[in-house]
Amino acid sequence: MPTPELSDNPMDFIKNIETILNDTLEIISKCVETDELKTIGPLVNGKKSPLIALRSKLKDIEPGARKEVGKVLTDALDKVKEIFEEKELELIRLAELNFEKSDLTENFVALNPIYSPTIGALHPVTLAQMELEDIFIAMGFNVMDGPEAETDWYNFEALNIPKDHPARGMWDTFYLNSKIPETILMRAHTSPVQVRVMKTYEPPIYTVMPGRCFRRDTPDARHLAIFHQIEGLVIDKGINFGHLAGTIEQFTTNYFGPNIHARLRPAYFPFTEPSAEFEITCTICGGDGCRTCSLTGWIELGGCGMVDPEVFKAVGIDPEIWTGFAFGFGIDRLVQMKYSLSDMRDLTENDLRLLLQF
Ligand code: DAH
Repeated sequence: MPTPELSDNPMDFIKNIETILNDTLEIISKCVETDELKTIGPLVNGKKSPLIALRSKLKDIEPGARKEVGKVLTDALDKVKEIFEEKELELIRLAELNFEKSDLTENFVALNPIYSPTIGALHPVTLAQMELEDIFIAMGFNVMDGPEAETDWYNFEALNIPKDHPARGMWDTFYLNSKIPETILMRAHTSPVQVRVMKTYEPPIYTVMPGRCFRRDTPDARHLAIFHQIEGLVIDKGINFGHLAGTIEQFTTNYFGPNIHARLRPAYFPFTEPSAEFEITCTICGGDGCRTCSLTGWIELGGCGMVDPEVFKAVGIDPEIWTGFAFGFGIDRLVQMKYSLSDMRDLTENDLRLLLQF
């Protein structure tokens, strides 16, 4: 930093002080590391500081102006000190932050080699959904999608579940506080997508519809409040219950392998007649009977049946010409069975020890 030529004229002296002050502050502001700040310390704040050197020249100023010039010089020195200390703190804080940042990753990876940075993996439920789509595509189905927020009509009414129908209790539903007159809810199953497909496309229809569903359920070992289902719908001429049973058996062995089978048990759903629940061989005991399957050897996976003519009427398909079957089951339950997980909630905990196995 060049020392401006000194003058004992008070106005020039003050100008000098201001010039040196500005140069000094600029030098401080350009520092990006504490080491750098230490190096310039004597120059801006210590023995080599041109401002401090000015002190000894004060005596050359005429006595009447000396006090005022002295004050300007003291203020300038105070300013340098203050800005220097602020900068010091800022750089120390920055250094600490950088240290913590690199320290965290280094220690984490060093202590847990199994967690070395990777690009991550798909969740087992996502993988299962993709695999199911492939299985059904190979069986001649296509894949479709529908909205997660639905109207009451698609989720219930069109599926032959009118407002006061007791079967509404089978789906404990989340309702949305929407401003429009129509009731909007989070779909409680993927069955509303069948309605959308039937309203949009002419039969023949061979479609599966996977997606997220929502119910006001308390999560437990076999239930989640947000879960995944895959819905199936076949509509063609001459479709009968045998086609339904064959399709379910085929998909079960394609997904689980030849040792796992499906069976149907009579059940009730408002949108199918007749209706059935389908069960698969318990994967934990291989069908011998265990605690998970309550000693029956079978685990319930979903519901199915022949599409009720009332549903056909709601969507404008002639039940005298077309017949069809539908099914729906939980993908999370399927994954739980495939990997023998005793608690379904493990799928939502994001525990890397589980996720990294997929
Ligand atoms: N939507 C039903 C549920 O969530 C499952 C189901 C049953 C789907 C029968 C169907 C069906 O398509 O035909 O419990």
